[in-house]
Amino acid sequence: MELRSASPAETEAVAARLAGVLYVGDVVAVSGELGSGKTTFVRGACRALGVTGAVTSPTFTIGHRYEADPDVSHLDLFRFQGFSAAEWGDLEPYFQDAICFVEWPEAAAGALPPVRVAVRLSHMDPAHRLITVESSEKALLNGLFGGADSRV
Ligand SMILES: Nc1ncnc2c1ncn2[C@@H]1O[C@H](COP(=O)(O)OP(=O)(O)OP(=O)(O)O)[C@@H](O)[C@H]1O
Ligand SMILES: [Mg+2]
Repeated sequence: MELRSASPAETEAVAARLAGVLYVGDVVAVSGELGSGKTTFVRGACRALGVTGAVTSPTFTIGHRYEADPDVSHLDLFRFQGFSAAEWGDLEPYFQDAICFVEWPEAAAGALPPVRVAVRLSHMDPAHRLITVESSEKALLNGLFGGADSRV
């Protein structure tokens, strides 16, 4: 499923729609190069899930956990390359009783819990992004965006 976004607001709107089909325990991988809009996407989803405070990239910590119903976790694994068991233990609570968004999921090298939805963002030009949404659940994608290639 591919969509084009012409602005940060459109990217947030796509994320908000996705948020509507997520459940507690879901893991959403959000990948893409630097500045492609990963945090913008997570912010849109968080707003739709009832997070009211600031949603920013976790820079000095590996993650944030925002209070909402359910809670929303936001990990940024940019500086993580492979996990030791101890480090993984630190991350595990973020996945418990929350919907969890993970920026730079590649860094986990397969150690993440099963990912229900994988989002990938890429630059088309300074204002436009291509957003690819993948899930093994075809019904989820069809219900969300109603077709193989639609605009926001
Ligand atoms: N269509 C768009 N969708 C999302 N962001 C856009 C778009 N057009 C321009 N932008 C800008 O691109 C930047 C995206 O920043 P953001 O922090 O969301 O990216 P990121 O992928 O999380 O970066 P990082 O790799 O540093 O974590 C913002 O400055 C935003 O305003
Ligand atoms: Mg980011």
